[in-house]
Amino acid sequence: MGDRILAVWALGVVLSLGFSTNATAAEKLMKFMVKDGAIAKSLTGKPGDATKGRKLAISRKQGNCLACHKMPIPEQPFHGEVGPELNGVAGRLSEGQIRAMIVNPKMANPNTIMPAFYRNEGFTRVLKKFKGKAMLSASQVEDLVAYTMTLK
Ligand code: HEC
Repeated sequence: MGDRILAVWALGVVLSLGFSTNATAAEKLMKFMVKDGAIAKSLTGKPGDATKGRKLAISRKQGNCLACHKMPIPEQPFHGEVGPELNGVAGRLSEGQIRAMIVNPKMANPNTIMPAFYRNEGFTRVLKKFKGKAMLSASQVEDLVAYTMTLK
C-alpha cells in the first residue's frame, strides 16, 4: 500500500517536471531578424490566423490592442484613443513593419507607451510570475499580424 502511494507520488513528480521543462521550452523566444525597422519573416515560419488575431486584439488579458487603438470591431463599445486608429494601417505599413511594431515598438520609438509583446527582458517592473516571459507567444503575434493585415 505504502509503495503504491510512493509510486503515484513519484509519477506525479516526473509528470510535473516533464511539464515544467515543456513550459520553459515554449517560453524561449524565437530568433528573428530586424532589417530597416521590419521583421520580414513570420516568427513561427507560418502565417497566422486573422480570426484568432481579432479575438486577441479584443482580449483584455492578452493583446488588448483596443485599449489604445480604434479598430473596426463594432461589437465592442470601448476603443482607446491613445494610439493611432488602426483602420487602414495595412495600407500605410508593410507586414514586416507591423510585425516589428507588435514584437517591440520601442525599436521604432524608444519613448512609445505601446508595450512590447514579444520581448522578455528590459522591463522595469515585472511581477515575479511574469519574469522571463513574453506577453504573447510567437503564434499569437502572428495571429495579430494576420488580423492587422486585414485592416486595409
Ligand atoms: C498602451 C497603449 C497601446 C496598446 C495596448 C497597443 N498599442 Fe499599438 N500603438 C500605441 C501608440 C501610442 C502608437 C503610436 C506609435 C508610437 O507611440 O510611436 C501605436 C502604434 C501602433 C501601430 C502603428 C500604427 C501606425 O499607423 O503607424 C500598430 C500597427 C499598432 N500600434 C498595433 C497594435 C496592436 C496590434 C496592439 C495589440 C497587440 C497594440 N498596438 C497595442 C499604443 C498602444
